[in-house]
Amino acid sequence: MEKFYSVAIDGPSGAGKSTIAKAAAKALGFVYLDTGAIYRTVAWHITMMGIGPKDTDHVPMLLDDANIKIDFREDGQHMILNGKDITGEIRTPEISACASKVAALSCVRDFLLDLQRDLAKQHNIIMDGRDIGTVVLPGADVKIFLTASPEDRARRRFDELRKRGQEADYDTVLRDIILRDEHDTRRSAAPLRQAEDALLVDTTGNSLDESLDVLLETIKERLKA
Ligand code: DC
Repeated sequence: MEKFYSVAIDGPSGAGKSTIAKAAAKALGFVYLDTGAIYRTVAWHITMMGIGPKDTDHVPMLLDDANIKIDFREDGQHMILNGKDITGEIRTPEISACASKVAALSCVRDFLLDLQRDLAKQHNIIMDGRDIGTVVLPGADVKIFLTASPEDRARRRFDELRKRGQEADYDTVLRDIILRDEHDTRRSAAPLRQAEDALLVDTTGNSLDESLDVLLETIKERLKA
């Protein structure tokens, strides 16, 4: 059987995982999978069905009706739910908050596990998320835990939103980041934590560009080894 390589990049929201993962995937010719987008797709689905994430009894039933496909295109990863491309609709603050809540449900995590693992069996892949190195791909060839202080992450997210022309308030962005960190690290199902064999990279005080080169070299060296 052909051997495919996998790189796991985990860490809290706004640490720069997707920027680093995308650049590394491009440099290595790997597929890049943003696993957060899959949780966001589930959140979108249950929101559209009129069910809040607190109505946990109804969530397993709704999962049966969610046919999720991931389309890797030239312009990036597209999320297709029951035949509809919802990529442009999953980045709102409401879906972010709902995704953090549905991601805490073990029925949702179990439902998405095979989808993620199957992709790693078919491609050389870089996945970013929260539990890739610990649960989804414990045997990944390279594991990185990328983090930065909440203030640095809020500043980056705030600048990003402003650049996109969206209204943003730094204190609200910071509060949302701290809240999501709490949800993601305190949940019992696959909480956000560094795998024992992951390389810890803290980008506090650095620009992502500064960290990018170092990380790319590290990934390449580890893959060679
Ligand atoms: O990375 P993101 O902000 O798009 O992720 C959305 C939510 O999904 C976030 O609250 C954490 C959760 N998530 C997760 O629990 N496990 C993953 N592998 C990826 C995301």
